[in-house]
Amino acid sequence: MKVEALPVIQGAHNLENYEETYNQFDWQEVEKNFSWNSTGKVNMAYEAIDRHVEGPRKNKIALYYQDGERKEKYTFKEMKELSNKAGNVLKTYGNVEKGDRVFIFMPRSPELYFTVLGAIKLGAIVGPLFEAFMEGAVRDRLQDSEAKVLVTTPELLKRVPVEELPALKHIFLVGSDVEESGNFIHFNQKLAEASKSLQIEWVDKNDGLILHYTSGSTGKPKGVLHVHNAMVQQYQTAKWVLDLKEEDVYWCTADPGWVTGTSYGIFGPWLTGTSNVVVGGRFSPEAWYGMIEEYGVTVWYSAPTAFRMLMGAGDEVIKQFDLSSLRHILSVGEPLNPEVVRWGMKVFNLRVHDTWWMTETGAQLICNYPCMKIKPGSMGKPIPGVKAAIVDDRGEELPPYRMGNLAIKKGWPAMMHTIWNNEQKYESYFMPGDWYVSGDSAYMDEEGYFWFQGRVDDVIMTSGERVGPFEVESKLVEHPAVAEAGVIGKPDPVRGEIIKAFIALRAGYEQSDELKEEIRQFVKQGLAAHAAPREIDFRDKLPKTRSGKIMRRVLKAWELDLPTGDLSTMED
Ligand code: WT7
Repeated sequence: MKVEALPVIQGAHNLENYEETYNQFDWQEVEKNFSWNSTGKVNMAYEAIDRHVEGPRKNKIALYYQDGERKEKYTFKEMKELSNKAGNVLKTYGNVEKGDRVFIFMPRSPELYFTVLGAIKLGAIVGPLFEAFMEGAVRDRLQDSEAKVLVTTPELLKRVPVEELPALKHIFLVGSDVEESGNFIHFNQKLAEASKSLQIEWVDKNDGLILHYTSGSTGKPKGVLHVHNAMVQQYQTAKWVLDLKEEDVYWCTADPGWVTGTSYGIFGPWLTGTSNVVVGGRFSPEAWYGMIEEYGVTVWYSAPTAFRMLMGAGDEVIKQFDLSSLRHILSVGEPLNPEVVRWGMKVFNLRVHDTWWMTETGAQLICNYPCMKIKPGSMGKPIPGVKAAIVDDRGEELPPYRMGNLAIKKGWPAMMHTIWNNEQKYESYFMPGDWYVSGDSAYMDEEGYFWFQGRVDDVIMTSGERVGPFEVESKLVEHPAVAEAGVIGKPDPVRGEIIKAFIALRAGYEQSDELKEEIRQFVKQGLAAHAAPREIDFRDKLPKTRSGKIMRRVLKAWELDLPTGDLSTMED
């Protein structure tokens, strides 16, 4: 289908002329904004918060927080003091030192943000965990990272298998209803008593900052380590792509358990001194539109799955709210359907700007900008300072319209530093020619716009969350009834993909709907709700290679009625 391009938005933007900037841009110019330019040392939390307190943003609101009845706001000055206090608590009672892994497992709350910043001020590496993770997922991540300190809530503590975590020395419990004992420390009480001043640990720009665990197609989740240097790109993209300006009120809907919720829910907006809205609780169209109205949100960053749900809720709901503050909307996480872009034009009279990047890339790479025409369905063009290309399996660049591997020339500022404890995995991302290979397939058109085609591997994107089929399969076969399991993503109009499992039962077990439900619950309880298969099919046998690998490609072909392709490696 031919889609009409949407014209550029008139007016002043932080990025005025894409082509011109692309041709002459140099990252070193951006580095001059930060303290290492003068001192050789830096700290992300200083640049994001404290720096503003020395200037005119001292009493500007940094954080608007709302979750149900709890409604609070904090200025940059208050954020500085409260993150200092959090840092002091972690240091005094958790013995946190530079390089230690401090994990945070709690719902979005102001304390979460104080803690992230406080830990960073100590030079610690922060590991944020999504609150929906269940015991198995929590254990894998805390074990792999050898986390020394955990900040969580009494509720979520039930999912932390403390006895299996020898490296974990101190646990802070957030909330008012906390019983202290042994290694369990009452966070809020200590925070109230702590000093407002803290000596920042000045670090090297390549020292560890944050560890985000993410899924691949094989094996356990991998810890993607980012360093303080990421600020260079997060700052600059918050300007160019989010187009943040002094008066903006910005809302990123992502949880800090995922990279969008840190890179653009914490660092990007605060590095640029922007007022940042954080909303807890569950999604509902009324609640979401209500937030935009209440805070006068001007710049809104969300995901296709959320837009599709809002679209599904109908235009009548929208009419109950005054959303006229909105001026810039962005999307990330999965392909942005042209249909959503058309809907955005109709109901907001605004373009929805798609952005492409990954946990591993640390910041946005391929985007649509206010100053550039949008081709609905396209992810846009690489940000200035970054070279993107479509390459074949030997790393040779392909001409326009040829589908291949979406690759980025190594060395952009926010690129991951390593995979925790797995240098080999890290190396496996790169190809001759210094290409970082994304795992996405795409093509580029004659004007240099990139078009997403799919994942090269079997990674599933469900409601914008990345799920590794192997992790789900491993959990499934722990269930006593399951002999073998193969997991695929099945296209779904709202969620992008849903997780579908094919299961061969052990002898003695009968197929039934109750068993399906039991297996579903088993994954939900053991891993995470979003990782539980929505559909289960029982089969007598699963397609496997001679070496015993489940052939997900064949399962997918079965499901979608597609040709199965080459079956020469399949066992009889
Ligand atoms: C994968 C990365 C970093 C933000 C959240 C996702 C898919 C991401 C787009 C887009 C099509 C997209 C890719 C990518 N993806 N953005 N604009 N259009 N697909 O981070 O969990 O690391 O997942 O999300 O497949 O490889 P993530």
